[in-house]
Amino acid sequence: MSDTLKERRRLLIATSSAGAVAAAATAVPFIASLTPSERARAAGAPVEADVGKLAPGEMMTVEWRGKPVWIVRRTPEMVAGLEAHEDRLADPASGEAQQPDYAANRHRSINPEYLVVIGICTHLGCSPSDKFTTGAASGIAADWPGGFFCPCHGSIFDLAGRVFRSQPAPTNLEIPPHKWLSASLVLIGEDDATA
Ligand code: FES
Repeated sequence: MSDTLKERRRLLIATSSAGAVAAAATAVPFIASLTPSERARAAGAPVEADVGKLAPGEMMTVEWRGKPVWIVRRTPEMVAGLEAHEDRLADPASGEAQQPDYAANRHRSINPEYLVVIGICTHLGCSPSDKFTTGAASGIAADWPGGFFCPCHGSIFDLAGRVFRSQPAPTNLEIPPHKWLSASLVLIGEDDATA
């Protein structure tokens, strides 16, 4: 190796090491810089979500314990449509322990208008996509009633997070403990049983 090449190599190694030290140096202050409420949130504290601006048919996502929690404001048509396809569902009556007792109903929620559900597929943990468009235009099936589609292995769930039969996902999506603090404010991660 020529002297010039050796010098270049030495400089390269020195630069890489300096980069590694800089990365390590910034990691510690980042964690230390979390406020007490941010640290509590990371550890699993309940989170409040304001749904005041959510229009019928829309969905928002909040993070709780590092997981996405979807809040869907269902239209009256969406709620009414939950009954029609129950013969195609694996667990239409929420027999499995995938939700608190107050969500073991057809709409799997406290208030039929709002679904609060953890957006993680019960197969291998991918995050499904919302597929609210019904019918053939959804790209799923002509009789698709609207719901969620997991692109990883194709599991499909309805607008209450109930899994259809013969899917890779074995159970319905999980409903987290939650309670309404007002008409537009929901607390996720705590209910009267867990408080
Ligand atoms: S992780 Fe959703 S279908 Fe496999």
